[in-house]
Amino acid sequence: MSGSERVAKRGPTYICQACGAVYHRWQGKCDACGTWSSLSEEAQAAPVPGGRGSSGGKARGRVFALETLKGETQDAPRIVAGIGELDRVTGGGFVPGSVLLIGGDPGIGKSTLLMQACAALALRGQRVVYVSGEESTGQVRLRAERMGLAEAPVDLAAETNVEDIIATLGQGQRPALVVIDSIQTMWSGEVESAPGTVTQVRGSAQALIRYAKTSGACLILVGHVTKDGQIAGPRVVEHMVDAVLSFEGEGAHSFRILRGQKNRFGATDEIGVFEMTGKGLSEVSNPSALFLAGRDQPAPGAAVFAGVEGTRPVLVEIQALVAPTSLGTPRRAVVGWENSRLAMVLAVLETHGGLRLGQHDVYLNVAGGLRVNEPAADIAVAAALVSSLTGAILPNESVYFGEVALSGAIRPVSVAAARLREAAKLGFGAAFLPSGGADFGDGSGLNLRRFGHVTELVADIAARAPRRDVK
Ligand code: TYD
Ligand code: MG
Repeated sequence: MSGSERVAKRGPTYICQACGAVYHRWQGKCDACGTWSSLSEEAQAAPVPGGRGSSGGKARGRVFALETLKGETQDAPRIVAGIGELDRVTGGGFVPGSVLLIGGDPGIGKSTLLMQACAALALRGQRVVYVSGEESTGQVRLRAERMGLAEAPVDLAAETNVEDIIATLGQGQRPALVVIDSIQTMWSGEVESAPGTVTQVRGSAQALIRYAKTSGACLILVGHVTKDGQIAGPRVVEHMVDAVLSFEGEGAHSFRILRGQKNRFGATDEIGVFEMTGKGLSEVSNPSALFLAGRDQPAPGAAVFAGVEGTRPVLVEIQALVAPTSLGTPRRAVVGWENSRLAMVLAVLETHGGLRLGQHDVYLNVAGGLRVNEPAADIAVAAALVSSLTGAILPNESVYFGEVALSGAIRPVSVAAARLREAAKLGFGAAFLPSGGADFGDGSGLNLRRFGHVTELVADIAARAPRRDVK
């Protein structure tokens, strides 16, 4: 809250390119977001072109009528793309006049996904404009050809000046959807900073958002992200838009996950799953089958977690490796789950389960590159850890779900019935689940093994261990 508030009226201004905080003196680290070397000199924290601030003097305000909470409302109409996995994440289609930001690593497939959405909409008779600031129209066309979409009547442009773009969009029939790929390449002639700077990104986004709100076209902004997962530059845009989606994937895997991070028109916990193929992205309507594909022969340290992403059950394999350490401080490495959550499960297993893990390195991996955020994965993680430590192979046809409390108690979790149904559908025969919670009867067709405390779980797994006891 220090330098960022006191901005000199004249002279150079330094703006953090990560979070947009403004300083009048250069410094190595941004006080606001803690990023190093992110300050860059920009001409002026210019008022937004045409914005309220730019009128300067004491303009008289217009009087407007106030409304009540009660009254006529209509559901936002939707523009359905016809790509099920995308429509699910947007909450049932694009909302006219709304602005969506799609973030993701370069090369993850944002342009591909959006071109497919554009083509699908255009083929349904909607006017769609795709503005690429990064590729030439030739490159975009080539890609569309490869995906077999060249016939779709998408209006295409390779432009970066927002005034030109808005003027062009004003011609002819109002587009239903406008894609700007990417917001970092846009610049506005009314903002005196170099393209790519926070001021430019913010100014350009503001002008484009104003266009969307006044015209009623749905606007999609593409934003590249930095290594730490934050949308660089466009992070300052996040709060201006109606929805923020992120497109994620692991380099080594071909599937991609579209995840809602903020959505004023729908739930934020939905995911859409795609697979990158030679002909663009194809929808994965049964993600569990994909995440479980290529499961190795039964081996210690693997447990299948029956998870839920949004409204959809997703089965995924949790892999653990517990090995004696050669270091003073044992390693804990996690991919796809929270570090702090692993530390908690380890502490509970040590305190209540009688395991000694202080001299062991622990590696935990969610197979397939999925990121699991649910506490319901606790007992799947615990089972995988105990299995790896003891060498006991977990029954291959079982799934696990349940939350572990600090006391070692295993707590019931939500939507258990859907988890069981999914497991049954994929051919699993048994489920390890919390003893509390709803009674599902035998409807699932699974052999239900209920546990109330981690000690019971540890004992059950250890009993399967080859010779070695739990130490
Ligand atoms: P792209 O959509 O350009 O990524 P972004 O816009 O997020 O930077 O995707 C580029 C990657 O996708 C590139 O590495 C090639 C791959 N790809 C395919 O594998 N198949 C395809 O049909 C297309 C169009 C791209
Ligand atoms: Mg791109």
